[in-house]
Amino acid sequence: MSLVETARAVREHAYAPYSNFKVGAAIRATSGAVYRGVNVENVAYPEGTCAEAGAIAAMIAAGDTEIAEVAVIADSPLPVSPCGGCRQKLAEFGKSDVTVTLATTDGKTLETTLGALLPGAFTQDHMERS
Ligand code: THU
Repeated sequence: MSLVETARAVREHAYAPYSNFKVGAAIRATSGAVYRGVNVENVAYPEGTCAEAGAIAAMIAAGDTEIAEVAVIADSPLPVSPCGGCRQKLAEFGKSDVTVTLATTDGKTLETTLGALLPGAFTQDHMERS
């Protein structure tokens, strides 16, 4: 199964009763293992979490720390665009040339990279004086 198809399948499990916007994410780690995530909303709206964050949490819990590839899918008119927070979260665990495939459930895809999604990312370098 391709990473987009994995994201498509797990999206069915999203918990999105408030936005009715289900998102699925799949991350392939450099180990080859694939991790899945969905958005999990909450009646206290800011407590909801994005699909990308769920996939990252699954990856870290399993002991992987390096992202090789990402796919995100939603039932949107245009390939779903990760929020700013998720761009920073993904950048924590992947190099800037990591491929990110953004997809719609009706088959549109947009291929980009972590670096293109978050140009000028805040990194640890910015915290070092010399
Ligand atoms: N959402 C994601 O899970 N990932 C994205 O890339 C975009 C937005 C979720 C958050 C919220 O549950 C719903 O989509 C609507 O914003």
